[in-house]
Amino acid sequence: MAKIAIIGGTGVTSMPGLTLNCREMVRTIYGAPSSPLIHGSISDCEVIFLARHGRRHTIPPHMINYRANIKALQEVGVTHVIALAAVGGISDECAEQSLVIPDQIIDYTYDRAHTFHGDKSHKFEHVDFTQPYSAEIRQKLIDAARTLKLPVTTTGVYGATQGPRLETAAEIKRMEIDGCTIVGMTGMPEASLARELGLEYACCAMVVNRAAGKVPTGIDFSKIEKNLKSGVDQVQKLIAEVLVGGL
Ligand code: HPA
Repeated sequence: MAKIAIIGGTGVTSMPGLTLNCREMVRTIYGAPSSPLIHGSISDCEVIFLARHGRRHTIPPHMINYRANIKALQEVGVTHVIALAAVGGISDECAEQSLVIPDQIIDYTYDRAHTFHGDKSHKFEHVDFTQPYSAEIRQKLIDAARTLKLPVTTTGVYGATQGPRLETAAEIKRMEIDGCTIVGMTGMPEASLARELGLEYACCAMVVNRAAGKVPTGIDFSKIEKNLKSGVDQVQKLIAEVLVGGL
């Protein structure tokens, strides 16, 4: 049976609608995850919630211990991960206040501990990452979004940048030429670490701004806050619908 975890990103340090059962502090050989694991239920379905940036949103994207987060989830028996992420929209169809379920990712990050391989505790092997996201979870997210009539783009290429600064207009132009349709800072190495441990993993991205250089007025942080709130509302409904349908 699937054991589901939700990794909350920016704006999602707790999961609205989650009935709390207990908090669990896990320590892995890679250190502690960003936050305690919250065991609870949404619509009577058991889930585990992990706040990627910490309980008080204090851990920036490049400082997240991605290995500890994914390892901790695996150690408590998680099989399926839904990763929530606030992103910037690069392509026109990825409009503010819409959701994107990416099917591809390009990694522009650096200096992050990005693999479980290379230390003595894991036998070295390559993993297939042709399709970086779980087709099964993606389909459930898409079906649920359609049922709820949420504005959703059902494919997309997530460009993962280093942060914590936002990108330059030229960087976004280059990413667009590369094929990226959304940009965020936490998609990698989270997705590939999940693959290395055999977890089913998919991302539900909330577009909270147009990417750098895409609007003449520039990035408006107060608007991002507003869009984040509406994104969290959408995602809360979406997750409840996915869980009721079952994974
Ligand atoms: N760039 C990178 N990460 C982000 C953005 C962005 O424009 N918006 C939200 N997360």
